[in-house]
Amino acid sequence: MEAHNYFSIFSFLLLSFVSGHEQLVQLPTDSLALAMRPNKLFVFGDSYADTGNLDFQAYSWNDPYGITFPGVPAGRFSNGRVFTDFLAEYLKIETPLPYTLWAFLQRFTNTNIQLQQCLDEELTYGMNFAYGGTGVFAERPNMTTQIDYFEYIVNQSVYTESELNSSMAFVSLAGNDYSILQGVYETLDELESYVKQVVDQLAINLKRIYNLGIMKVAVNTLEPLGCLPENAMTFQECNRTINVLSDIHNLYLREAVYKLNNETNSTSNFITLDLYTAFNTATATFENPYEACCVGTSSELVCGSVDANGERQYTVCDDPNISFFWDFAHPSQRGWEAVFSTPAMQESLEQIKSLSLKFK
Ligand SMILES: *[C@@H]1O[C@H](CO)[C@@H](O)[C@H](O)[C@H]1NC(C)=O
Ligand SMILES: *[C@@H]1O[C@H](CO)[C@@H](O)[C@H](O)[C@H]1NC(C)=O
Ligand SMILES: *[C@@H]1O[C@H](CO)[C@@H](O)[C@H](O)[C@H]1NC(C)=O
Ligand SMILES: *[C@@H]1O[C@H](CO)[C@@H](O)[C@H](O)[C@H]1NC(C)=O
Ligand SMILES: *[C@@H]1O[C@H](CO)[C@@H](O)[C@H](O)[C@H]1NC(C)=O
Ligand SMILES: *[C@@H]1O[C@H](CO)[C@@H](O)[C@H](O)[C@H]1NC(C)=O
Ligand SMILES: *[C@@H]1O[C@H](CO)[C@@H](O)[C@H](O)[C@H]1NC(C)=O
Repeated sequence: MEAHNYFSIFSFLLLSFVSGHEQLVQLPTDSLALAMRPNKLFVFGDSYADTGNLDFQAYSWNDPYGITFPGVPAGRFSNGRVFTDFLAEYLKIETPLPYTLWAFLQRFTNTNIQLQQCLDEELTYGMNFAYGGTGVFAERPNMTTQIDYFEYIVNQSVYTESELNSSMAFVSLAGNDYSILQGVYETLDELESYVKQVVDQLAINLKRIYNLGIMKVAVNTLEPLGCLPENAMTFQECNRTINVLSDIHNLYLREAVYKLNNETNSTSNFITLDLYTAFNTATATFENPYEACCVGTSSELVCGSVDANGERQYTVCDDPNISFFWDFAHPSQRGWEAVFSTPAMQESLEQIKSLSLKFK
């Protein structure tokens, strides 16, 4: 495709991005006093957080992704808003711009003042470096490379030291590093040693983000993997064997976060957002919680698949608002809304407040 075609597509995306900002669902945020909250959000990780970084080949750019918000597929792995959108809303800022959109449009700012102004405005909310399908090792690009992109931006002085100082980072790890596990690990010991490698690398990444100047770094606990529609036993029952993996991961993660805080003489530079508990509480409020709204018509196909003639190879439920899960692994917008309404998530988010102690 020619550069100017990309340009018009991206301009349209930027517009739909900007225009969609106001319609967010109201969540309880009273306790987060204005002066205390981080005012920028930098995001790393995977499809739970990606708001459009992956290229157009990804199935998240196919119908019916995005049908609820923004109304057309826009690279989010849901029918609507995802983790990043709800976290931004909690911070009372707009969803930060995807890095790839910024990197592309930047090339045109010399000749387009309006675009320049629009991008500058968007930059004030931070930036999203998360790519669906990735992990600390899982590529496309992996988390290390995502942080390289961030480091490049910091090197370019796109943000000042004090701007970074009043920002927070969110790192999403939803389990892509574990999808390679099937059949590879025979014993619990082997499994545990792999989980430890994942969490060790994750801790290195969290520390690196902190060292680049962000004083508050949040990471999610791993959701119960055995409850994802692709792994669940029935629409009402999870695979408990697989959930043990999440338990081990979260045990190591909490230990790693404790250590990072200790090393930086704090109790809350690094925080965990308890997605594990939030998922369990939120799913309990849905009738068939582990049934996906949108599914491929056979096991090799996913939501959004089409055949050579462009015929749909998936089915989609009548009302995504009554499904916790949108597809085989990703919550619907209503699912994420339920997750953010749980006491576990609200208490986790409270920890963001202590950023105020860092300010003069
Ligand atoms: C991340 O990807 C880069 C580029 O492919 C690779 O060099 C690096 O080893 C990867 N890092 C990890 C921790 O897997
Ligand atoms: C950023 O700058 C540092 C210090 O000059 C350098 O070591 C590093 O390689 C740079 N990183 C990127 C991604 O440009
Ligand atoms: C960032 O915050 C730290 C910790 O409070 C402080 O020491 C430093 O001076 C701040 N830097 C800027 C540029 O505000
Ligand atoms: C759960 O998942 C594991 C690993 O995929 C599988 O071997 C097992 O049959 C599943 N069912 C139960 C009840 O554990
Ligand atoms: C943490 O505090 C100890 C004791 O006050 C001090 O020796 C150390 O340099 C501090 N470390 C950091 C990273 O600030
Ligand atoms: C860090 O851990 C060491 C050893 O366990 C302990 O002595 C120290 O008080 C801890 N520091 C902080 C700031 O928690
Ligand atoms: C689902 O909920 C969203 C947000 O509350 C609303 O905009 C949308 O119209 C609802 N969809 C259906 C099919 O009811």
